[in-house]
Amino acid sequence: MSKKRLLSGMQPTGLLHLGNLVGALENWVRLQDEYEAFYFIADWHSLTTLYDKTEVIRQYTLEVAIDFLAAGLNPDSCAVFVQSDIKEHAELHLLLSMVTPVSWLERVPTYKEKQTSLRPESMSYGLMGYPVLQAADILAYKAGVVPVGKDQLPHLELAREIARRFNYIYGEIFPDCNALMTNYPYVPGTDGRKMSKSYANAIYIADSPQQTVDKIRCMFTDPTKLKRHDKGHREGCSVYEMLDLFGRADLHEDCEAGHVGCLETKERLAGLINEYLEPVRQRRHQLAKDIDYVEDVLAAGAKKARVAVRHTLEEVRQAMGVR
Ligand code: TRP
Repeated sequence: MSKKRLLSGMQPTGLLHLGNLVGALENWVRLQDEYEAFYFIADWHSLTTLYDKTEVIRQYTLEVAIDFLAAGLNPDSCAVFVQSDIKEHAELHLLLSMVTPVSWLERVPTYKEKQTSLRPESMSYGLMGYPVLQAADILAYKAGVVPVGKDQLPHLELAREIARRFNYIYGEIFPDCNALMTNYPYVPGTDGRKMSKSYANAIYIADSPQQTVDKIRCMFTDPTKLKRHDKGHREGCSVYEMLDLFGRADLHEDCEAGHVGCLETKERLAGLINEYLEPVRQRRHQLAKDIDYVEDVLAAGAKKARVAVRHTLEEVRQAMGVR
C-alpha cells in the first residue's frame, strides 16, 4: 500500500531555534516514515519580504538545510529540497493565480498586518500572492497532509479554496489538503514572549552551550521574587514554563519553597536544554564541516520532488489548454 503524501516548508529567514525544533521539526521527524514526506526550504517565499536582502536568503538556505538534517530528517526517508530548485512550483503558482480572486487575498490576515507595517512600495504583487505560491507548493504534490502551526491555518484554508475553484472550472485534479496540528506546544523565549527569531529571545541549535547559559541567565522570572529566600511563583516565570515543557517542573520546587535563587534554577534549566540539544548540535557541527554532503542531499531531494510534481503539472497544463 502506498503512503499518503505529506509536505511542509520553512522560510530561510534565520537559524532554527528551540521553538522550531520542539514546535515543528520533531513532528516532521516523527512523520517522515509514516508518510511519503516532502520538506523544503521556501526561499521564494522569503523574497516576498527580503527582496532587497537576498544575501540573507542565500546564507540561511544552507543553514536551515543543516538544521533540518541535524534535527533528524533522514534523506533516505523523506525528500529535503529547496523550493527554487523546482521550477514547477512557480509555473503552478502562475496558473493558479488565474483562478484566485484578489478579494480572497486581501482578506488574508498576514497580508492585512503587512499593510499596516510595510511601506506601500513593499506591498508587492508577489507578497499578495504569497498564499497562492504556498497553495502551489502543496497542490503540485497533491499532498493531503500539511503539518503547520496555527498561524498558517488561513493559508491552508485558502489553498483548499483555490483547489476547489480550480477543480470546479477545469475538472477534478486536486485533492483536499488538511493541516496537521499535532503537538505544537507553546515555547517561551527568554523574554516571556513566544520564542521567535524576530524578538531576539531565541536559543538556537547553532548556539554554543555557553551562549545558552548566558541567554538563560537573562531570562524573565517571577517579578515578585526579589531575594534568594523569597518564595518564587510559577505565574509569569519563563524559567518555570520552560522546565515544565521539558517535563521537569519539579526542578522549580526549591525556588517555590524559597530554598534557591533564580540563578540556580536557571543553571538547572540551561543544563537541561544543553543536554537536550547536545546530539543535535553534534550532528550540526559535523554537517557544517561537510557542505558537499548537504548539497548532495538537496540535489537528491530535488530529484525526488521533480518526479513527484511532473504528472500533476502535465494534468494541469492539459486541463487549462496550455503547453
Ligand atoms: N508559509 C510557511 C511559513 O512561513 C512556509 C511555507 C511555504 C509552507 N510553503 C508551504 C508551509 C507549504 C507548508 C506548506 O511557515
